[in-house]
Amino acid sequence: MSINFISEINPQQFKLNESLLRARLNRLLRLLEQNGRTVSVVFLDDKEMARYNQTYRHKEGPTNVLSFPADVADELGDILISVDTAWREAVEKGIPLHQHLTWLIIHGLLHLLGYDHELSEAEAERMQDKEAALYQAVQHIHSGGRIMPQLAINVDHIATIREARGGAEPDPVLAAGICELAGARGIVVHLREDRRHIQDRDVRVLRQTVKTRLNLEMAAVKEIVEIALDVRPDLITLVPEKRKELTTEGGLDILANEKKIRKTVGKMTEAGIPVSIFIDPDEEQIKAAMDVGATYVELHTGRYADAKEHEEQEREFRLIEQAAEAAYAAGLRINAGHGLNYLNVGRVAGLSVIEELSIGHAVIARAAFVGLDQAVREMQNCIDLAG
Ligand code: PXP
Repeated sequence: MSINFISEINPQQFKLNESLLRARLNRLLRLLEQNGRTVSVVFLDDKEMARYNQTYRHKEGPTNVLSFPADVADELGDILISVDTAWREAVEKGIPLHQHLTWLIIHGLLHLLGYDHELSEAEAERMQDKEAALYQAVQHIHSGGRIMPQLAINVDHIATIREARGGAEPDPVLAAGICELAGARGIVVHLREDRRHIQDRDVRVLRQTVKTRLNLEMAAVKEIVEIALDVRPDLITLVPEKRKELTTEGGLDILANEKKIRKTVGKMTEAGIPVSIFIDPDEEQIKAAMDVGATYVELHTGRYADAKEHEEQEREFRLIEQAAEAAYAAGLRINAGHGLNYLNVGRVAGLSVIEELSIGHAVIARAAFVGLDQAVREMQNCIDLAG
């Protein structure tokens, strides 16, 4: 695959972040299964664009984007973008220039692939839906193609301490606030069917108080699905649940539970709640996650974290690394977690495609000695050092 960026604009006027746009285009080509083909993106000013518009479309004045499909099999074609027009449109919409440029690249790419919004209303709708889905899949990619993993703290264990006495203290809601103040970018709770730690009230109050992102771990069962649809967390993560386990013991087997998982994903998607599925680092599960319509997978890092011998740890890490790449190439977004601590988190945080690390036990255990604020900051530091 080759991507050519050609800039014919005045660099004093607009500073284009080429590495950001290249990383996003790279990903888009993979998602569209066009990764063997060459595409050129040419950035022009309005004057040049008006010339192309007149010559090829017999229209006066500039436009934002024009696509010219190639007639050679391994080439996709050229996308011309007027940065002057893109800038005016971005200002009108109140969005950053690079966000709008990403939209225009997607629009141009879809034209190269034969989409045409001018054909009919139905085709315009099909194209718009495709654009929105592609934008959603690439908007988190930052400069240089590197995704910085964000720390999400699981506060279940605070509730476990509370339940030991059946009272009101310590409150996981308060803990979540401290975690956010210390820099955590997300709060995770698992509302188990047996309610052994987190209670319904916790989830409902957290929905009111969490300022970052609330990720609700849950089993794909009717009662909890109804609560999730009512509470509307920012993300739900489907996990397996066994009554006798001490903690989640492994990834969800999507293939063995396909029907109820597909149904739950469908309900959440209809309600606009994105779904992540906690899976073992396994290609079959990744394919199945795609197939049932998940937006994210959370890769189970427990076996890597629990490995006693160096060789076993290496083997488990490779599986996570390969699964992360495969999920990324398939167009899934990727979180990871389970068993991560201050010593083993670095390697996982160093994988360039992981968006969120979900960590509970290690941080809450350390908090007993150094305080929750410091325990979160230290974990954040371990992640930053890996970045
Ligand atoms: N991710 C999932 C899906 C989990 O079930 C858990 C445990 O509740 C975690 C992450 C966090 O694991 P740990 O408490 O070992 O950090």
